Amino acid sequence: HGLPAVEAAARELGGGGTILDAVVAGVEVPELDPDVTSVGRGGWPNEAGVVQLDASVMDGTTRRVGAVGALEKVATAAAVARRVMEETRHAFLVGAGALEFARAQGFEETELLTERAKVAWERWKAEREAEEGGGDTIGLLGLDASGRMAGACTTSGLAWKMPGRVGDSPIVGAGLYVDDRAGGATATGVGEEVIRVCGSFLAVERMRSGDDPQSAVEAALARIVENAGRTVQVGMLALDRTGRIGAASLQSGFRYAVHRAGRAAMFDAKVL
Ligand code: GLY
Repeated sequence: HGLPAVEAAARELGGGGTILDAVVAGVEVPELDPDVTSVGRGGWPNEAGVVQLDASVMDGTTRRVGAVGALEKVATAAAVARRVMEETRHAFLVGAGALEFARAQGFEETELLTERAKVAWERWKAEREAEEGGGDTIGLLGLDASGRMAGACTTSGLAWKMPGRVGDSPIVGAGLYVDDRAGGATATGVGEEVIRVCGSFLAVERMRSGDDPQSAVEAALARIVENAGRTVQVGMLALDRTGRIGAASLQSGFRYAVHRAGRAAMFDAKVL
């Protein structure tokens, strides 16, 4: 789902949108796609069969942030996170309060549990075996021609998670961090491990200290390995203020999309 997301982001930027508009527009594509099982509508539900979404946005120029956790019934969680940033005096709303806020902001409510996800959840309940693709995230980092950066990170979280569980994606510094004086980073995979090392903040601070983005994500993942070993999957992306990219994961299968100078392409992250 990376390619259509970066293409939508580039269209938004090309049409005069800001870099923040662009990253939010980009992640909205998989959020609204019922066939993407890790984000928004169509995401795998929690153990009670309810889809609960987590998302965050960060403006790398102002360092303002907004986030929602365990948000139900509204597919475009990153856009709600942006409204938290722009329309409230807070940074993070969760659960019923996040839904109430989204309603007040005019977001459309919809059933997020698709038939496909319901069938998968029922099979999991019967067999207690996670189906392939049991959790993922989309994190999108943007840099415009004037050096402004922004990021958005959105997910339905780990499949069959406990109700109320919040992962790394809406936790600024864990699943996402952007400061356009240094760079941006985002994470996917087992959020608990990313939270334990403040993974995205760590990668950005490494870039601030002079690391290139590839070394920065490898350093953050090495910290995760110190805590959790190599059996978990975590993938990280970083983009520095000059446009250099870093991407690595602990297990294979982590792919990412890049849109640069009018062209989009997919790449495999380095497996550590
Ligand atoms: N990285 C997504 C999650 O753990 O929820």
